Amino acid sequence: MPEILVIAHRGASGERPEHTLESYRLAIEEGADYIEPDLVMTKDGVLVARHENEIGGTTDVAMHPEFAMRRRTQVIDGETMTGWFTEDFTLAEIKTLRARERLPELRPQNCVFDGRFTIPSFVEILELATETNRRRGGSARIGVYPETKHPAHFTGIGLPLEQAVLDALHRHAYSADDSPVFIQSFDPQNLRLLHGMTRLPLLQLLEHELGDLAAIAQYAVGIGIAKHLATPEGIRAAHAANLKVHVWTFRAENEFLPKDLQVGTSPAAHGNLEAEIRRFLERGIDGFFVDFPAVGVRVRNAYISAVQPLHQPLTDTTLPGNRLQGR
Ligand code: G3P
Ligand code: CA
Repeated sequence: MPEILVIAHRGASGERPEHTLESYRLAIEEGADYIEPDLVMTKDGVLVARHENEIGGTTDVAMHPEFAMRRRTQVIDGETMTGWFTEDFTLAEIKTLRARERLPELRPQNCVFDGRFTIPSFVEILELATETNRRRGGSARIGVYPETKHPAHFTGIGLPLEQAVLDALHRHAYSADDSPVFIQSFDPQNLRLLHGMTRLPLLQLLEHELGDLAAIAQYAVGIGIAKHLATPEGIRAAHAANLKVHVWTFRAENEFLPKDLQVGTSPAAHGNLEAEIRRFLERGIDGFFVDFPAVGVRVRNAYISAVQPLHQPLTDTTLPGNRLQGR
């Protein structure tokens, strides 16, 4: 049976403010195979974990009068954004900020952590991974699944992400061919560039359509697709193109679940995430991004235990004919 990866989406972001060391640490404790940092860059060229370079939504920067003048509007990847941007801050300045829950209405329980956790650099995340691996001794290393965010924008302002990502992975022993790493991006140009720079596995993120899978297979080992694209036909087509299929994003709140798996009427209440994950496992996906890694690990392990016997190769002693002959 091929492995099915549980990828902790922004850490255990259903239970802690996303992209904090505490969120990643909890995901590791819960048994996730990979932790997923989205990466952007500071003014002084340091990779930090944020879902986007605008940090007004996930930090307390608005409460810092000393940074009030940094608020501005700019166009990023064709979208007009107003707020505070990582490229206008040094790492030292970013470190004076504290993380806040992105979805306070859906995840009010996480707001108790607002103001308590710092914004981690990619290096700090890799140090957490290294420390985890040291404690684990010889058993499986924690995987790291970085996403380059807005790579064209960062290249355009003289802060390219690619070499910095590769250098950091290399310095933390995550650059060998068999290292548990995937580098992901929505930007095919970025992945093509990375393909010429590293042998680490690359993964093409897709949101609206599957596109030319054969072309993607030239530079990527897999696709990371939105749930609506993960139809049985889509998964079959990707596998036929020799691409792994990782699916995003599995979340427990009713807001993110299909109608038939919601429980109660509150968008924030938790519905039947287990059943949703099982549906996709049964379609043959190779991994999934989940905000609640403990649920993902539990469902994945139960699924593998249930189907494994069906996949065991028949041996001489288990072949029906041989069993009869032995009697
Ligand atoms: O990287 C997989 C998934 O995380 C893509 O979506 O927007 O959460 O980074 P996003
Ligand atoms: Ca991501």
